[in-house]
Amino acid sequence: MSIGQRKLDHIHHLLNDSQVDRQGGYFDAFRLMHNALPECGLADVNMRCEFLGKTLEAPLLISSMTGGDHPQLLAINQRLAEAAEHCGVALAVGSQRIQFENSAAAASFKLRPFAPSIPLIANLGAVQLNYQLNSQHAQAAIDQLDADGLFLHLNPLQEAIQPEGDTDFSNLWTKIGQLQQQLSRPILLKEVGSGLSPGLIRQGLAQGIHYFDVAGSGGTSWSRVEQLRSAGNPIGLTFQDWGLPTPWILQQCRPLAPQTQLIASGGLRNGIDVVKSLVLGARIAGMAAPFLQPAMESTQAVIDRIEQIKQEIRITLFLLGKPNLQEVWLNKHLIVDLAEGSRR
Ligand SMILES: Cc1cc2nc3c(=O)[nH]c(=O)nc-3n(C[C@H](O)[C@H](O)[C@H](O)COP(=O)(O)O)c2cc1C
Repeated sequence: MSIGQRKLDHIHHLLNDSQVDRQGGYFDAFRLMHNALPECGLADVNMRCEFLGKTLEAPLLISSMTGGDHPQLLAINQRLAEAAEHCGVALAVGSQRIQFENSAAAASFKLRPFAPSIPLIANLGAVQLNYQLNSQHAQAAIDQLDADGLFLHLNPLQEAIQPEGDTDFSNLWTKIGQLQQQLSRPILLKEVGSGLSPGLIRQGLAQGIHYFDVAGSGGTSWSRVEQLRSAGNPIGLTFQDWGLPTPWILQQCRPLAPQTQLIASGGLRNGIDVVKSLVLGARIAGMAAPFLQPAMESTQAVIDRIEQIKQEIRITLFLLGKPNLQEVWLNKHLIVDLAEGSRR
């Protein structure tokens, strides 16, 4: 099966199986400190921040999803790029491996004309360094997108469940470390919904990598998607909730947060989740599945979704009485431990 057909299959299952989004609700375990007298106006809230050397209007990333030669995949990427530019948020594309197997797919990653000013992030599977890809491919992926960085995704569970999966993950630290030296843009490591552990992030820092998208569990389950694709392989269901919840990873990484650029993704579904992620130490937050349906419709539908999330972030910051992102980042006073009262 071609990678393009596989991408279309994924989209079909994501849109037609309501349980692919596992709705872990892990962010619900936290409350933020409501401030009944915020001492600022809603209009005073400033959500601007820096990411990959560029200014964002809000700390938001449309996470990696797709690309390919099918008109639908091309349209999705173009709409995401136009909407991200309009709203001033970052955009990552789906795996670009497809452009090396089918040159017609490359056009779907030529997005800079639609998004001249925002951070764009290229994407490849790290495991492909053990198969057909090398540093020239990685640089070509960056160049095609005119990207500000390269996401290398780590997806051992997905590959293990996928019938045609590439499962040799050996010696990858060495190869990632070497690749980091050879590219014109920084590498960002990400998972795809099972989470990067604190230990792995520490190892990445030792390799000179500073950007980590934790992509934890609680949102899109690739194990479940692959189970649906493989006509009911029951093992995919066994592992559908495998992994580390996003807020748990952020909490554990608090001591590392100042020396790294953490991105929170995996199961975030609104602006409150975004602000909780910042309080827990993330610099920006990413979402994938929430943008898929709007991207199937139109650029305006994606813009509407982003603007809703931005407004939720704005109201949350207002209700904290913290009109700037710097005041919430890693601010432990803003987290309410609901269990504390019941322990007294
Ligand atoms: C339709 C779709 C396609 C995806 N394709 C990729 C991909 O090609 N590369 C990648 O690194 N992650 C991919 N992901 C994973 C997301 O980038 C993200 O890490 C994960 O879905 C968790 O976020 P969510 O719970 O908001 O969906 C994809 C997600 C979706 C929904």
